[in-house]
Amino acid sequence: MLNVRLCFEAPEQIETAALVTWVYEKEAPLEDVLAKLDAATDGQLGQLVAAGELTGKAGETLLLHQPRGLKAQRLLLLGAGKLEKFAPAIDLRRLAGTAARYLKARAVTQLTFLVRSAQTGHMARMSGGLPDQRQPETAHTGRMAQAITEGVLLGNFEPDKYKTEKKDDKLISELQLAGFEAAQQAAVEEAIQRGRVIGEAQNLARELVNEPANRLTPRLFAARAEEIAHQFGLEADILDEKRLAEEQMGAFLAVARGSEEPPRLVVLTYNPPRSPNLASGASLGSPVIGLVGKGITFDSGGISIKPGEGMEKMKYDMAGGATVLGAMRALAELKPGVKVIACIPLTENLPSGRAQKPGDVQIAMSGKAIEVVSTDAEGRLVLADALSYAKKLGCTHLLDVATLTGAIFVALGSVNIGAFSNNDKFLTQVLASAQAVGEKLWAMPFDDDYCENIKSAIADIKNVGSGHGAGAINAAMFLKEFVEETPWVHLDIAGTAWLEEAKPHLAKGATGVGVRTLVHYILSLGEG
Ligand code: BES
Ligand code: MN
Ligand code: ZN
Repeated sequence: MLNVRLCFEAPEQIETAALVTWVYEKEAPLEDVLAKLDAATDGQLGQLVAAGELTGKAGETLLLHQPRGLKAQRLLLLGAGKLEKFAPAIDLRRLAGTAARYLKARAVTQLTFLVRSAQTGHMARMSGGLPDQRQPETAHTGRMAQAITEGVLLGNFEPDKYKTEKKDDKLISELQLAGFEAAQQAAVEEAIQRGRVIGEAQNLARELVNEPANRLTPRLFAARAEEIAHQFGLEADILDEKRLAEEQMGAFLAVARGSEEPPRLVVLTYNPPRSPNLASGASLGSPVIGLVGKGITFDSGGISIKPGEGMEKMKYDMAGGATVLGAMRALAELKPGVKVIACIPLTENLPSGRAQKPGDVQIAMSGKAIEVVSTDAEGRLVLADALSYAKKLGCTHLLDVATLTGAIFVALGSVNIGAFSNNDKFLTQVLASAQAVGEKLWAMPFDDDYCENIKSAIADIKNVGSGHGAGAINAAMFLKEFVEETPWVHLDIAGTAWLEEAKPHLAKGATGVGVRTLVHYILSLGEG
């Protein structure tokens, strides 16, 4: 459990295990807070700069013990890279995560993150979202506090659930935020709370994604979702195989056939608090956002089985579903003004004597006939029916998140999420949200020409594109057939949901990518 609080003492007076702040590349002379720390330490920081030991280069960490003139036991200086490139939404979160990981690895469990003044020239020049016109100071300050809180929570996360020796006792347990002005206390505290809710929601998604498939089957995932719904006040409806059949979800059920584990469709609904100003019926015409997350708890490929090497990683094929569940939990706490419905289709994709075969034709809930060329292109099959169901429940906007294709990794690596849409305005809003929260999203080409690739000789469409290349686009084209005219954004997170190597600010494994973008987008809908 991380304790977060504000501290208004002067930097040199703060008693803390570690005082943490950042330095820009080629920052000479040292500005604002750093100038103060330099003076307090009798010019020690300036000397380190002159000696070339403190360069401010991105990724640099410099730890001073018992710094002269400071009450802090340690001073940790983090390189922030070039000032012109500094984007608080991305960099502050990353720096805070780096500090958390750096310190806890050295058994330091308490830290004070000291922000640099928003008044000085360099902060005013900071990019990463223009200051809010109405409340420039507090909005800007709030974003910093939120990013730092999130960064420490995310950096603190360790995937050691199944290790006998846990890192629990060495996690950061206390975070102080310093450098904010007392007049901004209320706004900063609200931002810290938002950061806590969102950071913990992202960690929930990571925890679920890291779970091995034998410990998070479709039924166990559904049970977790139901438990969260009850705890946080969401409506929950879990459809079992019988109800899926009643809904005629032929595409989803075709994937589920191969496994002994029964499938589930988790439906969670968030209803906004009733606005007293609205007469009943005034909400007619207001949007209902559908969040749809791919929940393949294990993807072996089915009969079109995947190669054995790396197959163990396919437990993360439910990352889209975990992202949606994490976002829903955060929304339940943050209470936006719009209705949101989450649909998470859960199943394993396994080969067996009952499994569907390449060449089979399946009839989706929408009535469309699908030729299944590869049983390994199962994500689009389960999503097809989940999207149809979300539409049936009245969603006016659809946003799906899925580890859909290996091809998106080929195209964008593990840096950007691939984004696809049939609606420019919706896409622009989602891109803006991603940018505001430091998640990277790249809009992929989505011309109708690609539609040719998924035409089938014997059914309406096939689940694999013919010809060469454009695998991620073909998959999105397939989904588009089921959303039809409803405004829709599809996020392919196959490249970004899993981190192969630990980063200074993040543990190896599940990233929980997408949670922050979804939450930001939905919260932003309430604003003018
Ligand atoms: N779950 C995979 C996509 C994936 C691949 C996610 C690698 C993460 C890492 C998906 O179900 C799949 O198998 N897609 C196939 C589609 C192909 C058969 C048309 C792919 O990308 O190879
Ligand atoms: Mn697959
Ligand atoms: Zn898959």
